[in-house]
Amino acid sequence: MSEVVLKVAGVSKRFGGLQALSDVGITITKGRVYGLIGPNGAGKTTFFNVITGLYTPDSGSFELGGAPYKPTAVHEVAKAGIARTFQNIRLFAEMTALENVMVGRHVRSQSGLVGAVFRTGSFKAEEKAIAERAQELLDYVGIGKYAEFKARTLSYGDQRRLEIARALATDPKLIALDEPAAGMNATEKVVLRELIDRIRNDGRTILLIEHDVKLVMGLCDRVTVLDYGKQIAEGTPGDVQKNEKVIEAYLGAGHKAH
Ligand SMILES: Nc1ncnc2c1ncn2[C@@H]1O[C@H](COP(=O)(O)OP(=O)(O)O)[C@@H](O)[C@H]1O
Ligand SMILES: [Mg+2]
Repeated sequence: MSEVVLKVAGVSKRFGGLQALSDVGITITKGRVYGLIGPNGAGKTTFFNVITGLYTPDSGSFELGGAPYKPTAVHEVAKAGIARTFQNIRLFAEMTALENVMVGRHVRSQSGLVGAVFRTGSFKAEEKAIAERAQELLDYVGIGKYAEFKARTLSYGDQRRLEIARALATDPKLIALDEPAAGMNATEKVVLRELIDRIRNDGRTILLIEHDVKLVMGLCDRVTVLDYGKQIAEGTPGDVQKNEKVIEAYLGAGHKAH
């Protein structure tokens, strides 16, 4: 049997009169890319926000790596082993690419804040190791030569890859990517696809929100389709593509989904 990394069941979330999520559940096995798709406003980002502790759900149960976890606070979720990127890029704009990745790595560091304030010997040694690891990750996502550039000076495509490097820096059990291809041109998308493929082949587990159907169909092992907060289909990309409800949801949205 394949090892389950994330198991989420019965997630509901209401905003006033709007039922943003109704009884949504997914199970992701290790080393897979799991896709979360659906028209604009379907509840995809809300689902991410729930599992990463940004929104408190009205109901739901959560298991990560076989142990229950409560997504009550963002830093607790990071410690438990979920790292994410954002639909609207969230980087430290005035910090360098390298520093942005180092911030991600500090979640895992030993000497912590006290070491940082007093700049203890062990802190300095650890800081050097963190910088080296950060550079490796920048190389891994293909932007190593921009290590000393301020994040805001990078292209959108490179900023998105920087966010992925920062997420990887926490050494997560699960990496959740919210529309990583948004704002990318066709060439950048090909490179992104190769990167996500490589991350999976290196044994990581990925939850992917994406609108580019070609990207989803080519990359994902399994897919869940949301529409108005409801799970209307789950299965392999091939199965889901043929599902009547899915076709209707996308046609109903006039193919304007973003
Ligand atoms: N913080 C919030 N407050 C109120 N409504 C929200 C909030 N976040 C999301 N929503 C609403 O929930 C629905 C789902 O949004 P979202 O999860 O962003 O969709 P998607 O990512 O699939 O495009 C939308 O109708 C959106 O307006
Ligand atoms: Mg969204």
